[in-house]
Amino acid sequence: MSVLSVGLVGCGVISEAHLSAWKKTPGFKVRGVLDANRELADARARQFGVDRIYDRLDDLIAECDVVDVCTPPASHAKIAEQALHHHRHLVMEKPMVTEVSDWTRMTKLVEGTSTKIAVIHNLKFATSVRTAKRWVTEGRIGKVIRIQREFLTNPATDRMLVGDSHWSHKLPGGRWFETLPHELYLTHWFSGPLELDSVTTQCSPTAPSGAPADDVMISMKGNGCISTFHFSANCSENRRWFTIQGTEGRIVVDLLSDFATISSLKDGTWRRAMGRSIIEAGGTLARGAADRGRYGLQRIRGESPHSRIIQSLAKSLTGQGEEPTPLDEVDYVVTYSDRIGREIDRQVAAARAART
Ligand SMILES: NC(=O)c1ccc[n+]([C@@H]2O[C@H](COP(=O)([O-])OP(=O)(O)OC[C@H]3O[C@@H](n4cnc5c(N)ncnc54)[C@H](O)[C@@H]3O)[C@@H](O)[C@H]2O)c1
Repeated sequence: MSVLSVGLVGCGVISEAHLSAWKKTPGFKVRGVLDANRELADARARQFGVDRIYDRLDDLIAECDVVDVCTPPASHAKIAEQALHHHRHLVMEKPMVTEVSDWTRMTKLVEGTSTKIAVIHNLKFATSVRTAKRWVTEGRIGKVIRIQREFLTNPATDRMLVGDSHWSHKLPGGRWFETLPHELYLTHWFSGPLELDSVTTQCSPTAPSGAPADDVMISMKGNGCISTFHFSANCSENRRWFTIQGTEGRIVVDLLSDFATISSLKDGTWRRAMGRSIIEAGGTLARGAADRGRYGLQRIRGESPHSRIIQSLAKSLTGQGEEPTPLDEVDYVVTYSDRIGREIDRQVAAARAART
């Protein structure tokens, strides 16, 4: 079997997950890495035994079959377009781009070619999310009528909210734009393409610089389903939950713990007497014991949503499977990230103007 070469651009935090995923992907080898900060590239190359450190993107693109982009979002379009002009396959960290027009140009470049673009919509490959998807497909909670995503964080624990200079602060909608792809592709995957209904922001004078809209509620609707996302920079709890309400039950996914629970209890006199939440807690504990074993084993083996999505892309590149991120999903995410991000910015500007 011939081996495809990978060139990775951007050796910051997330590159570690990519490089360890490529190491476990048969038929692919990381040929070299590049970073605007040479010391970071050196350190990652040493950590993963990569032979080559590139100084120029041109050289990396010329010598690699796959270009894996792990730089901040504002730089994605330029790097990706250069790679696509040379017919290289692309692995892109989300958010794919920061402007819809960039995405439109890219789709034209791949039209009618065999070039593949995979955007790292990694939560689709989390065990808990896949379990939830299976439960929904099996009809265990009936028809999905409501999706609720909670991203509750604070500047003490969220590295992107620390200080005034993280790159995410300059994105449309600030730090929230960095996470928005997750909310949008999960909504798209579980309920189809819903339309944006409203964006409601609270812009406190004390809001951190990365999230000047420190509480945001987004609502989308369509296909008989309502989806809401709550972003907050004011919660010490650090919660990343994804709840799917169906006509016959409810699934709750704790994304940070990679743990899903399902409940489809009907109301009843003895259930009320025992306490529904207490009965549900019993079910959660029973499922949790076995599931935590699975969680520990996967961590020991170094399996992660990143390793699964990269292996899935690798299979699709060698003609053995579906593309992990269909272009209509990416299109949906890019379109609504742009609309929501810009609406948050508009409301932040209005709140600032009202204060002066
Ligand atoms: N899928 C996920 O769960 C997930 C998690 C974290 C980050 N991300 C995404 O990964 C990307 C990178 O995030 P990060 O946290 O690793 O950022 P980071 O700031 O830790 O690293 C980015 C690196 O890119 C380098 N860089 C910047 N511009 C460059 C350029 N033009 N050419 C070469 N190198 C350049 C920087 O020097 C830095 O080392 C972002 O798009 C982010 O949203 C995704």
